[in-house]
Amino acid sequence: MTQAETITPDPAIPLPPYTLRMGGKHFKNDVDFVAAGVRDARMLRSRTGMGRRKRVLDWGCGAGRLAIGIKHLMGHVEDYHGVDIQPPLLNWAKENLGDEHTRFTLVDAHNARYNPDGESHFEIPADPGSVDVLYAYSVFSHMLTHDIAGYGATIASILAPKGKAMMTAFVEEDVPDCVENPTDYLKLEWKGALHCVRFERHFFERTLWDAGLAVEEFVYGRETDGQSLYVFRRR
Ligand SMILES: C[S@@+](CC[C@H](N)C(=O)[O-])C[C@H]1O[C@@H](n2cnc3c(N)ncnc32)[C@H](O)[C@@H]1O
Repeated sequence: MTQAETITPDPAIPLPPYTLRMGGKHFKNDVDFVAAGVRDARMLRSRTGMGRRKRVLDWGCGAGRLAIGIKHLMGHVEDYHGVDIQPPLLNWAKENLGDEHTRFTLVDAHNARYNPDGESHFEIPADPGSVDVLYAYSVFSHMLTHDIAGYGATIASILAPKGKAMMTAFVEEDVPDCVENPTDYLKLEWKGALHCVRFERHFFERTLWDAGLAVEEFVYGRETDGQSLYVFRRR
């Protein structure tokens, strides 16, 4: 993850303990953690039109890295809704970051890496057509094709007609459609269930197209650990 500039963390905005920060090795200190949230809030502002009047759904929010970035950058949006499946992270965020514009919801959905005993469904708690900006950073990077297709359809249904979804994923051209923990990929050692799920780029985009989402922007390989950045819209 690239940090454009140094940010001074605002002592009035709580930060999660290191043990609750997803992607911990990238966030050894508070300045890096806050800067990464601010950097993504800026990207959402420029690439999806996120602003003070928008309804934002942070799917796979962890302990609220983006919520912290939004608070530092612009105070608040109309409605920030963070959703995750890990109780310790979500509960910390709810207790420490929740306010009249900022809320968090825990869902019990299955993920072999993060919530192996969870229920199998593709629910994201939002009304149809109610989300202006959906953000899913390093979430599809830990899901197989079945989940991409299922959650892709859910995302298409909850996005507002002009809504945008900014997401990251590991995608490459001319590789098998979907590989869990590919060997000799990006010089990292992938360990444990769903550590890295890599998709063939056209297969990934076609799967989401079939689910109801069209690619609006694609930036190859510049996000965490070499993921690519997408902006999708409803098709
Ligand atoms: C690598 S972390 C990224 C956290 C955060 N987006 C960030 O960039 O700091 C992936 C997150 O996705 C969450 N997650 C995985 N499957 C999920 C699902 N089905 N619904 C909601 N969250 C999910 C995990 O619990 C985890 O917090």
